[in-house]
Amino acid sequence: MQVLIINGPNLNLLGKRETSIYGEDSFEDYFKVLQSEFSKVDFEYYQSNVEGELINKLHEVGFNYDAIVMNAGAYTHTSIGIGDAIAGIETPVIEVHISNVHAREEFRAHSYFSDIAVGVICGLGVQGYELALQAALCQLEKS
Ligand code: DQA
Repeated sequence: MQVLIINGPNLNLLGKRETSIYGEDSFEDYFKVLQSEFSKVDFEYYQSNVEGELINKLHEVGFNYDAIVMNAGAYTHTSIGIGDAIAGIETPVIEVHISNVHAREEFRAHSYFSDIAVGVICGLGVQGYELALQAALCQLEKS
């Protein structure tokens, strides 16, 4: 089973960036925890601050991986291109946000992908990635 976690812009700064909102952990440290917890899953992590690179990555894995867990950061609220890429691939995408985007500025409440994602997890901190992986595994076991 192949799963890719994709993080979008500024999420490379986790642990340094607005820690009262996004927490003190770097994603690299948290990824090690995920790898030990889900040792049977072949999963990878990709981060980019560039919209086109995120689209290219979705195209690259979106016809052969089993699931994608994606936090597109601010592009969630702006990118029709990423929305089209998610709509165009076959691999199911679970959308994750660390913060509760519905409890923040109004512009964060809109996502260009929530309607085409399998599901959305937000507001539960980095634990949202773990929950998304569990959900992906459950769905794959059922299929
Ligand atoms: C975020 C929420 C977005 O609104 C913001 O632009 C981010 C991170 C989150 O994980 O809470 O960069 O996706």
